[in-house]
Amino acid sequence: MRTRARHTDNGRVNAFDLSRLRPRIPSPLEPVEDERFTRRGLTLSLKREDLIHPDLPGNKWRKLALNLEAAAGRPVLTFGGAYSNHLRAVAAAGRLLGFPTVGIVRGDELAGRPLNPSLARCAADGMRLVFVDRATYRAKNDPATRAMLLERAPAGAYVVPEGGSNALAVQGCVELGRELAGRADTVAVACGTGGTLAGLAAGLSPGPGAPPAGGGGRALGVPVLKGGFLGGEVRALQDAAFGGPRGDWALDERFHCGGYARVPPALDAFARDFEARHGLAIERLYVAKMLLGLTTLAEEGAFPAGTRLVAVVTGAPDTPRQDGGAQPAVSSR
Ligand SMILES: Cc1ncc(COP(=O)(O)O)c(C=O)c1O
Repeated sequence: MRTRARHTDNGRVNAFDLSRLRPRIPSPLEPVEDERFTRRGLTLSLKREDLIHPDLPGNKWRKLALNLEAAAGRPVLTFGGAYSNHLRAVAAAGRLLGFPTVGIVRGDELAGRPLNPSLARCAADGMRLVFVDRATYRAKNDPATRAMLLERAPAGAYVVPEGGSNALAVQGCVELGRELAGRADTVAVACGTGGTLAGLAAGLSPGPGAPPAGGGGRALGVPVLKGGFLGGEVRALQDAAFGGPRGDWALDERFHCGGYARVPPALDAFARDFEARHGLAIERLYVAKMLLGLTTLAEEGAFPAGTRLVAVVTGAPDTPRQDGGAQPAVSSR
């Protein structure tokens, strides 16, 4: 990720110089032997975005880097559910880079209860947690509600949307596509908001104005939520980030496995088998669904022999942290 080292008058590096966190970028591209692919003449490689940074893995780094640079050390306010990976990543960035963070958390019933491990980690990283009822949370982008929520943050706070997906986040994900351009024909990625896919597709493409089959790789999004709304979201994110459509991308909506955070036994069994075959731990809510989709498509004969497939490993499974036990909520509404 492009980061600029900026210096204050006294020569100290500003908080938003992310390069001092030493991200592993470009992330490794690891070929794997998998007979479900090789017997059809396909190659499969894993783009190990999960190895970019232990606290800001995968698309968290790609999506936050330009936003944190824009925040330039100001307090950051953002939004998420009780188990949000995004909230955890912002809290960790605040701890590592030394800026205050505020998390608006969906569900005022959580206030006053012991924090779950995910929120406990946010709090341990110094994030101020503000619990809001679901109606307020839904209205978080309305100007009046937004103003009210901003009052809970230090003055001048920079706002990052839920899931971290905005124009800068999409632009940050372009670099993921560029790292793969010319090295992959189809690149599969799991989708929540679609921000990662929007940027990936742009980076894979040889450039705006190129014909759809202009030699760039194709991005394949696997939504983990039900609903069929994601195509419009990806188009809107590309409009915001680039002023129009970019790249060649498609969605396969069949692999949400019942919806967000649903992990039916068949998905778990698939993921365990993949772990045993390839010796890496698979995050279930996003990465497992993408791998299931890509493997199913290969088995359906969706790709011609010779196709170079890449699966983007956008995150890692949770690991329990030693210092983050349950704690009371620090702030509520
Ligand atoms: C591990 C992982 N993969 C994929 C995604 C989906 O990313 P996006 O919301 O940009 O579609 C997320 C959510 O941020 C995630 O945590």
